[in-house]
Amino acid sequence: MHSQKKPFLSKLQSLSHNHSSHRIFSDWLEIAALTLHQLPYHSGELAKDAAFERLEQRYMEAIKPYSKDELNVFSELVSLTLIAHHTGYGDFLGEMAGEAELLNKRGGQFFTPYHLCRAIAKMNLGDVKSQVEAKGMITIVEPAVGAGALVIAAAEEIAAQGIDPRATVQFDCTDISRDAFNMAYIQLSALGLQAVVRHGNTLSGEYWEARPTRSCGCLTNG
Ligand SMILES: C[S@@+](CC[C@H](N)C(=O)[O-])C[C@H]1O[C@@H](n2cnc3c(N)ncnc32)[C@H](O)[C@@H]1O
Repeated sequence: MHSQKKPFLSKLQSLSHNHSSHRIFSDWLEIAALTLHQLPYHSGELAKDAAFERLEQRYMEAIKPYSKDELNVFSELVSLTLIAHHTGYGDFLGEMAGEAELLNKRGGQFFTPYHLCRAIAKMNLGDVKSQVEAKGMITIVEPAVGAGALVIAAAEEIAAQGIDPRATVQFDCTDISRDAFNMAYIQLSALGLQAVVRHGNTLSGEYWEARPTRSCGCLTNG
């Protein structure tokens, strides 16, 4: 995960000549999350449906302000993110956003350092094996997910207990921030976890979008 950090930040930086770095990062997150959602439709794994068409239209709108060269860099950033998650669990995008000072501090975006998330997961989860044996599948709910650090650490802790989190846990995550929604969606997708990531306000109960990861057969897009 560490070796992808430097190239990620320098590629992100290289894009900020024509656009502000906050705009670039937000747009890249939107495009990357849409790309990951649309992959199984483009590969023929899923039949194209209304959710695909709606999000494809949004994708076409999102890429409009960018040149071909800029979109190539966007693809490289997606690849670096996927590679980072293949090398292990961690909050790659949360850390990248923090280092590039792209978090909305006024919106409460202070993400928990990953080593603390690991400690919290270890202290709180208990014996997951007996919970899975009793229930078959367990659900972990995160009402203010940020980039997903706490749920990623929970998945890592479950894996450390010898249980495959991809087969035994459904994550249900919400954030009010569009950037956080996209970061969590990208990271949980990259890790192959079953999740529904919601863009919404947990306190008022308003939800603007619910997007299942590719591994999740649990919900349709809303
Ligand atoms: C302090 S961060 C924590 C993120 C993550 N849980 C972590 O530990 O890294 C709080 C998050 O809550 C989100 N948030 C604030 N108010 C919210 C609300 N009413 N509904 C959903 N998310 C909210 C913010 O956008 C931010 O991403």
